[in-house]
Amino acid sequence: MPIIHHHISALKVALQPYRAKQQRIALVPTMGNLHDGHLELVKVAKQHADIVVISIFVNPTQFGVGEDFDSYPRTLEEDVAKLVTVGADYVFAPSIDEMYPVLPPPTSVRAGEITSQLCGQSRPSHFDGVGIVVSKLFNIVQPDVAIFGQKDYQQLAIIKQLVRDLSYAIEIIGAPIVRAADGLALSSRNQYLSESERQTAPILHQELQYLAKQISDGEHRQQGFKKLLEESRQRITSAGFTIDYLEVKTVELSDIAHNNESVSENQNLVILVAAWLGRARLLDNQLVTVN
Ligand code: PAF
Repeated sequence: MPIIHHHISALKVALQPYRAKQQRIALVPTMGNLHDGHLELVKVAKQHADIVVISIFVNPTQFGVGEDFDSYPRTLEEDVAKLVTVGADYVFAPSIDEMYPVLPPPTSVRAGEITSQLCGQSRPSHFDGVGIVVSKLFNIVQPDVAIFGQKDYQQLAIIKQLVRDLSYAIEIIGAPIVRAADGLALSSRNQYLSESERQTAPILHQELQYLAKQISDGEHRQQGFKKLLEESRQRITSAGFTIDYLEVKTVELSDIAHNNESVSENQNLVILVAAWLGRARLLDNQLVTVN
């Protein structure tokens, strides 16, 4: 059974002896409502550290006005029960007051240019909120390693940038996307899907796989990325999604020339999508190497 702490001071005291013994501490930051994807993050963490701390905090600063902060599922008891199965050592579940003595906090962590694209376009303050809460969690837990899911590809890139720019001595590990048997990427927000939407949802992953195959087969050289993406957008929209974005980027999230063949052979790209299906905003991505 993991030990639960709600206060920063108590968690720090609890972790101090491990640090003194040079034991490695891993942090898995989450907003709770844990599913198998989160449990996989804990399993990865255990491979890289002696002690695993999982934080469970629905962070108000990363939700915009009208987003699902109030309705976001808070399921601490069930989460702790699930964590027993993967052997997490500590749960840090602070209150909002504990994390933010002043809300909104007057201090900010800005990730800059990288936030002006993809999720940042429709959620303009989201990554600033992620930046400040992750910085605080890093300062509180002082982990040697922290694990984030690759499903939130842009978030992972921003965290790596944060670690570089703020000189955190923390190794950041991106854990592979965990999918349901039909391919849907696991997410706490999947539970917003109705039964029929849940049947439709895997189309997003299927479409990414199809696009990846087209690109790896060199189809973009005949048709151009723009056309491939446009056709794909049409299929996704016809299936009932409202697309926020569907884009192909370099793995560093730089733009590629969308309408020509200038992408070089063996270049690694990532196809990223965010789309609404009913109340759920679904995110997914797929890496692809150009042939
Ligand atoms: O990915 C999430 O669940 C959140 O953005 C994170 C990293 C826990 C910060 O609140």
